Formats: sequence, C-alpha cells, structure tokens
Amino acid sequence: MVGCPVVDCVDYGITDRRGRPVTLHPVTDDNWRAVADVAPRDDQRAFVAALGARYLLLSLREDVWHSLAVCAGGRVVGHVMWAFDPEGGAHWLGGMIVDADHQGHGIGRAAVRTLVRWLATHEECREIRLSYHPANTSAARLYETCGFLPTGQQEDEELIAALPVAR
Ligand SMILES: CC(C)(COP(=O)(O)OP(=O)(O)OC[C@H]1O[C@@H](n2cnc3c(N)ncnc32)[C@H](O)[C@@H]1OP(=O)(O)O)[C@@H](O)C(=O)NCCC(=O)NCCS
Repeated sequence: MVGCPVVDCVDYGITDRRGRPVTLHPVTDDNWRAVADVAPRDDQRAFVAALGARYLLLSLREDVWHSLAVCAGGRVVGHVMWAFDPEGGAHWLGGMIVDADHQGHGIGRAAVRTLVRWLATHEECREIRLSYHPANTSAARLYETCGFLPTGQQEDEELIAALPVAR
C-alpha cells in the first residue's frame, strides 16, 4: 500500500439524494458480514460479482485490491475497492456495488466522489482508472458524470476510463 494512510472513516460530507452522509469504512469484524451480503440486481450480475463477498476474498487473498464498506447514514449499503498499480502509476477503482435495495438514491455517485477525493490525497496519485462492461450503461453514465473519460483502451471485455488528478 504505497503512501496509504490508515483509514478509519472517509467522510467529505457528501450526501445521497436523501441527505444521508455517504462514507467509506475499512472492513472490520463488525461490518464484514454486511459487506459480504451486498448484492446487485439479478440483471446486473453479468457485469459484477453476485455478492460483495467475492471482492472481499479478492482483497484478502491478494495484496492488490483494498475493499471498503460504503455506508449511507451509517448503514452498510455497498462495496467499493481501490488499488495502486506501481508499474502503470495509476490508482484504480473497482468492485463498485450499491445493494439492489438502495440503488437510485445517489449513493453510487457520492461513494465514487468520496473515493476519488480520498485517493487524490495520496501523494503519488496522478490518475484514477476504472473499467466497465460496454453494456453497463448505468455505470458508464455514473463514471462519466464523475469526470471519468474513456481512454480508448480495453482490458478483457471492459472499457477503461480515466480521471486525471490535478496537482
Ligand atoms: C452503477 C451503480 C453503482 C450506481 O449506483 P446508484 O447508487 O444506483 O447510482 P446513483 O443513484 O448515485 O446514480 C448516479 C448516476 O448513475 C447513473 N445511473 C444509475 N442508475 C441508472 C440506471 N438504472 N440507468 C441509467 N443510469 C443510471 C445515472 O447517471 C445516475 O445519475 P442521475 O440519477 O443524476 O441521472 C449501481 O447501479 C450498481 O451497483 N450497479 C451494479 C454494479 C455495477 O454495475 N457496478 C459498476 C461496475 S463497473
């Protein structure tokens, strides 16, 4: 974890459309079950893992990705993870899931904006990258409205988008 400060709670006062604070938290003994249970809608399973548990295991088994709990009003409603690629020099955002019951209330956008702002505090952060399936129009629109632009590159079947971080 290059230059990663210990995170207790990432909170920039960004709220969802109901005015609930959207915050990011480390996965702990207290919240891991709720994070593991985060699930997209059935029709979204073509784009992401069926459960947050899959991403939690990825974070635990390899020292690449770092899972965070997404909370709205203090309650776990999603999962997101980040990584730093020392070779490419970019930070990455991945595993973004807002639980099916909580979608459409501005939580996804608040979580992405919060994570972007926090990653940008890392000294070595120059660019944030992510990828999404070309048919995942919700994700494409979400990331576009957060400032990510398609790079024209692809990884596996997914399109890569990037956000430069001003210094
Ligand atoms: C993509 C996802 C994270 C968005 O989370 P969310 O909390 O529902 O999103 P928000 O309410 O913050 O909406 C943010 C923007 O996303 C886009 N969006 C969200 N749901 C959408 C939908 N059903 N159709 C089209 N656009 C959609 C819109 O641009 C929306 O902004 P707007 O409402 O101002 O138009 C959520 O739908 C999800 O978990 N999907 C399944 C997992 C996934 O695909 N993750 C991304 C992998 S790359």
